[in-house]
Amino acid sequence: MGRDPLPLPEAGWMPTAAGCARHWPGAAACRWKCGNACDRPALNPTAGETFERVLRRFLSRRAFLRGAAAAATALALRPTYTQALGHRSPQVGSEAGREVPHSGLTFEPVPLHTDDRILVPPGYRVQPLIRWGDPVLRGAPPFDPLQQTPEAQRLQFGYNNDYIGFFPITESAGSRALLVVNHEYTNPELMFADYQEGAPTPTHVDVEIAAHGVSVVEITRSGGTWTYEPAAPRNRRLTGDTPMLITGPASGHPWLQTSEDPTGTRVRGTLNNCSGGKTPWGTVLTCEENFNQYFARLADLPDDDPRKAVHRRYGLPQGASERRWELFHRRFDVSQEPNEAFRFGWVVEFDPYDPTFTPRKRTALGRFKHEGAATVLAPSGHVVVYMGDDERFEYVYKFVSAGTVDQANRAANLDLLDHGTLYVARFADDGTGEWLPLRFGEGPLTPANGFTSQADVLIRTRLAADLLGATKMDRPEDIEPHPVTRRVYAAMTNNTQRTAAQVDRANPRANNRHGHIIELTESGDDPTATRFTWDIFLLCGDPQADDGVFAAGFSVERLSAISSPDNLVFDGLGNLWIFTDGQPSALRKNDAVFAVPVEGPERGFLRPFLSAVPGAETASGDFDAAYETLFVSIQHPGEGSSYAQPSSRFPDGDLPRPSVVAVWKSAGRDKRIGS
Ligand code: FEO
Ligand code: CA
Ligand code: CA
Repeated sequence: MGRDPLPLPEAGWMPTAAGCARHWPGAAACRWKCGNACDRPALNPTAGETFERVLRRFLSRRAFLRGAAAAATALALRPTYTQALGHRSPQVGSEAGREVPHSGLTFEPVPLHTDDRILVPPGYRVQPLIRWGDPVLRGAPPFDPLQQTPEAQRLQFGYNNDYIGFFPITESAGSRALLVVNHEYTNPELMFADYQEGAPTPTHVDVEIAAHGVSVVEITRSGGTWTYEPAAPRNRRLTGDTPMLITGPASGHPWLQTSEDPTGTRVRGTLNNCSGGKTPWGTVLTCEENFNQYFARLADLPDDDPRKAVHRRYGLPQGASERRWELFHRRFDVSQEPNEAFRFGWVVEFDPYDPTFTPRKRTALGRFKHEGAATVLAPSGHVVVYMGDDERFEYVYKFVSAGTVDQANRAANLDLLDHGTLYVARFADDGTGEWLPLRFGEGPLTPANGFTSQADVLIRTRLAADLLGATKMDRPEDIEPHPVTRRVYAAMTNNTQRTAAQVDRANPRANNRHGHIIELTESGDDPTATRFTWDIFLLCGDPQADDGVFAAGFSVERLSAISSPDNLVFDGLGNLWIFTDGQPSALRKNDAVFAVPVEGPERGFLRPFLSAVPGAETASGDFDAAYETLFVSIQHPGEGSSYAQPSSRFPDGDLPRPSVVAVWKSAGRDKRIGS
């Protein structure tokens, strides 16, 4: 099949300062996705209860009953929990006459490949659900890449889909749902036939702004397959221009005030929305990641302006931006609007069930390159949000709400994320760790060190975390709490800049081109704890070629190669599913989706489930409520090639189009994904 295969780096090529582990030097992804984040020196050189159960309680008794059954099955995974609740597991095997939990994963692994087609195991089917340009809102014209306009794009599915969140419509008895999908960034060189790098037209720029953001689309299940409903009443597009509120401690701060918004409380749009999460009350958290790259001309800000050093710590470009939006929109020119960039880099919350809801940037959750935001409800009722700052040598964070969830009144929870404590992680080499509070007035976060308020601490989160002595990690991406054990799994994608002298036990490899996953246990299994223990769960790589590949002690001979773990999600039996971003350069294979048990005798047995297409990452995914469909984001197919000669023609054999695909089982009685 493989037409125009992805140009691979020379054999023996190793990432250097001129390229990242994800891509080789000059790769398009480095330019468009993260603003060449790896081309510059490190920016800090100095130094409960599950979502599913609670959501179902809020939304539907019927769905809750189904969730309770699933939870009972999952609880059986750990004998201690099983005994505590008096359940007897239907998911047990026999090992030497002793009952042991097993993963339920029996699918035949797919080979990693380089072809221009998606591979899934025998007995499974995969098909595109929605593609860039497909109509979402009423009045959307059919997709025509040669006549694309901002007006059309605002009504259509955006570009480079990433986070996927499945939100059931409970009155539909499982047949309808809302799919929330992030649109992280644009590849103008693949979107427009006439794009000139460095010289976009106003139409190019406005289409790009409209292709960013989020889509909400209603989907319907008929038989085994889901399809989406164009123009359904709750469908929605958020773009780089959608009005949003800035809430929490930093709202209204002078550094958030601009000529468009002297109040510092209202902002246009959300950008570079990478991963995200769901709250226990059924809203979405969508995360602004590499926001810095959209702003230009930091060098023109006077050196004695205190904002300059802050913007530098976040990596704003000194000169022109790659996309050149500043040519037509002055808010992206730092020399004209020095504060606009402070209004990005936040976690944004909105209610997918209410298309009139004004999204809110929750400043209490800190400002950095937010990868994702996974929540867990603590036994105390506090909500805890785990978050990674995805850049080399950046940090792992969590937020603990001040208030507790009101399970009888959904609306009472809508501003819960405006008040609480943000912590950053310090990993000690003895396997313990500490959550350090970013609280104004405590420790070094005082006026003596230049901090003036909690708002100031949050706007300058990275600088505050530097002062606290947080542990510099190998690009923290998605961080996901296990739905039953509450152990936390944190993906470190890679970091080829770490030297032998910078190795520590939590980041144990120099030139970490394949990445790893850390397993963290909160003290007392309490998500609000300030101390934890941790260990390495997975050290990625090719067991045939690399020393040191490790998967929770599982036999390395039986392991698949894997590189650059990015997004994570758990299935209904508590197995971890891993979505990669970087295998084309690190393994010379397309990115893929893997499943790995984290409990039982198969703990660490990593298997590839889906292998994607050239140039694409498998950015993210989610299951439907029955765990019978896996939705996967196929992001930037063909990246690294050109409009005229794309390296992928996914999904329809012509122009490559970022798409969400649905995977389901077409054979066998047990229809659960992975079974
Ligand atoms: Fe947008 Fe960290 O991946
Ligand atoms: Ca990601
Ligand atoms: Ca996730």
